[in-house]
Amino acid sequence: MRENEELAEKVKACVKSLLSGEKSGHGEDHALRVCDIAARLCQGQEADEKVVALAALLHDCDDYKVFGQECADNLTNAVKIMDQCGVEPSCREKVLDIIRNMGYSKLLQGIRPATVEGEIVSDADMLEGLGAIGIIRTLRVKFYNNEPVFDRDVWPDINITQEKYKRKSFYINHFFEKLLRLKNLMFTEAGKAEAAKRHETTVIFLRAFFQEQNLPDWLDYLEEFLENNGLAANNASVMQMRLDFESFTKIKDGVKNIELRLCDEKRRQLKLGDNILFINRENDETLPCKIVGLCRFRDFGALVESLGAKQCGWDKEISPEDADADMEQYYPRDDIKKYGALGIVLERA
Ligand SMILES: [Fe+2]
Repeated sequence: MRENEELAEKVKACVKSLLSGEKSGHGEDHALRVCDIAARLCQGQEADEKVVALAALLHDCDDYKVFGQECADNLTNAVKIMDQCGVEPSCREKVLDIIRNMGYSKLLQGIRPATVEGEIVSDADMLEGLGAIGIIRTLRVKFYNNEPVFDRDVWPDINITQEKYKRKSFYINHFFEKLLRLKNLMFTEAGKAEAAKRHETTVIFLRAFFQEQNLPDWLDYLEEFLENNGLAANNASVMQMRLDFESFTKIKDGVKNIELRLCDEKRRQLKLGDNILFINRENDETLPCKIVGLCRFRDFGALVESLGAKQCGWDKEISPEDADADMEQYYPRDDIKKYGALGIVLERA
């Protein structure tokens, strides 16, 4: 054991020397953190901890983005460091095999780690793209590469291929093109648990980024992206809404399945999968419902024109102008103009 620790220390010293001053997010600090995370992921696994530690420390020593394609193909630096440190050939081959078969661009090509040691190191490396560390590392890389942060008119390219992945892109778009997907690329159970926590931090950051700039389209895009990619956390919240007897009864009887509200700050917090507890104002009867759709419009007239009046609770078809006028008994015209209208599509819970 002592021998393994001494070997790891020797390799660490070489990695520090090679990667010190590296500013693209693949420096010595990253290598050391991946090594620490990988050691934690080893707990409870039947894995060769020496192989895991060496692969974690050396995995970016030949990164094509830093050292070029020839080094990446031959793993020149990893081989050299292991030779210098006296790593025995069988261990060396296992380490090189892990490094050859890991990384996001490899996953895009369908290449997966072949051993549990490879899975652990891959998970540890991917975890570095998530959470607070992922947010900082990615920003650092984007600044280093002189890439822009965000343009509200340029949407992410979500059908990212290995070739496209190597192109420049916006910092925020990179979350959709890569970082948000990492949660679903974990191999080990411990990696999955840690990724779930870090993923939430990433999502909170993005929500705040879009909220602070009042970008409802991007907020909707984020929620839909999470939902469509199986990334939504099971953190559905419950909002209470009080209704008059007639509206309550229509929802209860299935006559109405779209609740109309002003799309103000409070309602913009609603997410697909959230629950609403409707309360009958007359008798406090409750009716739990789940949100299965959120439809935003510039006003209630546009909403009714698109979704139809009956589903929204009117007894008969109604013109957009009359729908707007009708809703003005609940919301001031200026507020409707400012915030727009929200159709909350419901399903009985
Ligand atoms: Fe890495």
